Amino acid sequence: MKKHIGILTAGGDTPGLNAAIRAIGKSAIRHHGWQVTGFKEGFRGLVHNRYLRMGREEFSGILTRGGTILGTSRDKPHKMMIGNQKIDMTSAIIENYKNHNLDCLVCLGGGGTQKNAYRLAQAGLNIITLPKTIDNDVWGTDITFGYDTALGIATESIDRLHSTAHSHHRIIVVELMGHRAGWLALGAGLAGGADVILLPEIPYNAEAIADAIKGRKLNGSPFSIVAISEGAMSKSEAADLSGLTSALENAERGSAERDSAKEKIVAFQNGQKGSTLRLAEKLENLTGLEARLTILGHVQRGGTPSARDRLLATQLGTATTELIAAGEFGKMVSIIGDETRPVPLEDVAGKKKLVPLDYPQLISARRIGTCFGD
Ligand code: F6P
Repeated sequence: MKKHIGILTAGGDTPGLNAAIRAIGKSAIRHHGWQVTGFKEGFRGLVHNRYLRMGREEFSGILTRGGTILGTSRDKPHKMMIGNQKIDMTSAIIENYKNHNLDCLVCLGGGGTQKNAYRLAQAGLNIITLPKTIDNDVWGTDITFGYDTALGIATESIDRLHSTAHSHHRIIVVELMGHRAGWLALGAGLAGGADVILLPEIPYNAEAIADAIKGRKLNGSPFSIVAISEGAMSKSEAADLSGLTSALENAERGSAERDSAKEKIVAFQNGQKGSTLRLAEKLENLTGLEARLTILGHVQRGGTPSARDRLLATQLGTATTELIAAGEFGKMVSIIGDETRPVPLEDVAGKKKLVPLDYPQLISARRIGTCFGD
């Protein structure tokens, strides 16, 4: 029977999204003769019924394009901003899903999207997800597409920053994306030859970093590259956040204490903005070397996907239609080794894949003398 599948992309844009959309579309249409509908701007498109019927022409010429042809948003189905109110729009999504006679909804996204998609699966929709993010922090898969492209961009950027570091005898602090997980900072820092790598997983001590930089200076290298994940923090900041987090966990749902704890965490996170600049200034004071900050930001997500990300996206996309044909829903299609594997969404939702402290790349970096601020 001719199936009809819906596709949406949610969360931050990522290189490889269009490659994955292309693989899903081509295999659905050419291999299975199915109908495909794309929904625009993530879950919001499904709420407001903003869609496009997709044929061969829509899937042609998009393999190498960055971003997502469907558009994306960070909107959550159960807490969607309608006007200035957050409203649970799950029922509107279910209604539109049924009005389009969808057999399955395929959601491409990071950790937040996995959780939102799982909620829709629990509400009775046939859901399959693909893991994407440059952060590489989705639990249950060895890697997410987007990471390899960002790794290449960030590594090349760090390579280029060595020029000003050794020419001016400077500390160059380069901030990479990655809120809770330091995969990108670890990979690009190691590949780019950073002297210091700071991860969210390892709270740092500024004095220990300064000592490492001063040590390099004494050994004839009066310059250093500090690769820092945007989510990295000092030991004292980590202790403060831990206290705030446990206050939230101990507060009763719906209580005033819980609201107050949430507000304090938001205030803490807002206070973290600019923390990498403050660290650069502190290191300049502690070492006597000039310091400059470069924030790579969304450059890391831009442009054409790497060959590896195109391969990953194509493998995941084609595996998706096979799961649909087998009637296997409520799963994320993950990459384990060279294989794709369906992982139950209830095992993925709400989890993040953090860098293990005994991760081989981290051990290798320590062995060549990289400082992690601890
Ligand atoms: O989730 C991927 C990511 O790139 C993070 O690394 C980064 O902190 C965040 O998205 C930025 O979000 P936005 O694109 O909404 O500013």
